[in-house]
Amino acid sequence: MLEVRDPKLKDFMDSWHIPVDEEMAALRRSNEADGVPLILTETESVLRLLLDLKRPSRILELGTAHGYSALLFAKCCPDAVITTIDRNPGMTDHAKANFESFSEGSRIDFRIGEALDVLRELADGDEKFDFVFIDAGKSHYRDFFDMCETLCEKDAFIVCDNILLKGWLVECEGREAKRHRTNIKYMRQFLEYINGRDGLDVTLMSGGDGLAVIRFMR
Ligand SMILES: C[S@@+](CC[C@H](N)C(=O)[O-])C[C@H]1O[C@@H](n2cnc3c(N)ncnc32)[C@H](O)[C@@H]1O
Repeated sequence: MLEVRDPKLKDFMDSWHIPVDEEMAALRRSNEADGVPLILTETESVLRLLLDLKRPSRILELGTAHGYSALLFAKCCPDAVITTIDRNPGMTDHAKANFESFSEGSRIDFRIGEALDVLRELADGDEKFDFVFIDAGKSHYRDFFDMCETLCEKDAFIVCDNILLKGWLVECEGREAKRHRTNIKYMRQFLEYINGRDGLDVTLMSGGDGLAVIRFMR
């Protein structure tokens, strides 16, 4: 099977990872030990660079898990408010507890529910976001993106994680191909869609599990 990263390369890259602080290092360690999904260290580096350059004030995240990336956003952008969405009760209790125990949690607006439903609720209000991180259901990126676009300021960034689907997007055979065919089909369609659309500046990166960094050229 194709590996997005040779494990030795991943270990090498991980060895250069510098956590934001000891609280975040401990949260990463416990998430990794418990098998909780969270952004890879390379993904974190790219996000931190983008946040530092962009300095967003309203951040929207789809896919909270235990809250690692939402807390990262809050730590890296001390003046920003973060809205993060997750529907899975197995995750949301842990995220709530983490948001309560970190001082930055007071700037996190945690919405529990199906991402598209919450996005529709947000669209009914007049909130606009200048940085969006899409890290939820991989077969819904096109719908997520279209809804998020309506919620974005004109110079916003939308960053989408896991666009390479652990390499399955490029090479997938046998049982794996059958199991992941829906995600593969919809992720390919999503990448064709964003790359074919006028007015978008799209950068695809293979770091981590693959990232799409999208800017609106309005
Ligand atoms: C990869 S994890 C997010 C990791 C998190 N961003 C981090 O780095 O700490 C994906 C999360 O998305 C949530 N999710 C998946 N599909 C969703 C949907 N349609 N609506 C809301 N949440 C969803 C899952 O419950 C899971 O917790």
